[in-house]
Amino acid sequence: MKLNSANINVMVKACRKASKVLIRDFGEIENLQVSLKGPGDFVTASDKKVEKILIEELQKARPNYSILSEEVGEINNDESFRWIIDPIDGTANFLHGIPHFAISIGLEQNKEIICGIVYDPIKDEMFIAEKGNGAYLNNYRMRVSSRSKLRDCIIFTGGPRREAKDRELALKEYYNFSSKVMLPIRKLGSAALDMAYVAAGRCDGFWQRNLNYWDIAAGIILVKESGGFVTDFSGKNEYIQNKTILVTNSKVNNEMIEVLK
Ligand code: IPD
Ligand code: CA
Ligand code: CA
Repeated sequence: MKLNSANINVMVKACRKASKVLIRDFGEIENLQVSLKGPGDFVTASDKKVEKILIEELQKARPNYSILSEEVGEINNDESFRWIIDPIDGTANFLHGIPHFAISIGLEQNKEIICGIVYDPIKDEMFIAEKGNGAYLNNYRMRVSSRSKLRDCIIFTGGPRREAKDRELALKEYYNFSSKVMLPIRKLGSAALDMAYVAAGRCDGFWQRNLNYWDIAAGIILVKESGGFVTDFSGKNEYIQNKTILVTNSKVNNEMIEVLK
């Protein structure tokens, strides 16, 4: 890994340790699928175990940093540094035995994300970025794709939830009536990996509504440091407040904003 600042090393170490439990538990899921009880409780317990290891490791190295983590919520301490943790992003995949999920950790300094890691333990793919120092997939520098026409792209999204309003939006998402663009969409079930894949140039964009901060914190810096754009649906910077996020390789940003109107 080309990035070796002290904070990056702390994040990598925490991820590697927690992923041992995650990989072992994932191995159990297949047996539980066929049991009458199903894997639900087991997955909840696994999520909590992974979170506990991550928090213990991060606190051991940085006792003063604050934490926001999906299951335990806020642990307030230092005012300028905060870890943002999603112990398993892609829980539904994990539960179904689909090997596509990740640990996601972002680090904020004065409310800005300065480091991020998204680790897919099954494929052993570690996506890391640090402000000003670039983004890497394992040992390789990542760059966003150079595709500039939406029709040549693959775009990721997630959701929607069950409300009627969201069903209408989903229809619009597949076929944009005004621009007559049939979006080449994939839904892979992990927002953190969706963003990491944009950063790695595997896909060209991603959008979603109503995500939580821990779903996207690490992804934000991965995409920015790979040369991509992170905005809300209208191209503005308010993606966290507005809870609508659009990330692209930069080239299809305007076209995507049109489609999402
Ligand atoms: C979910 C995943 C999924 C997205 C959902 C998220 P979780 O996170 O990121 O891709 O569509 O909105 O809640 O629950 O697996 O941590
Ligand atoms: Ca998540
Ligand atoms: Ca989660």
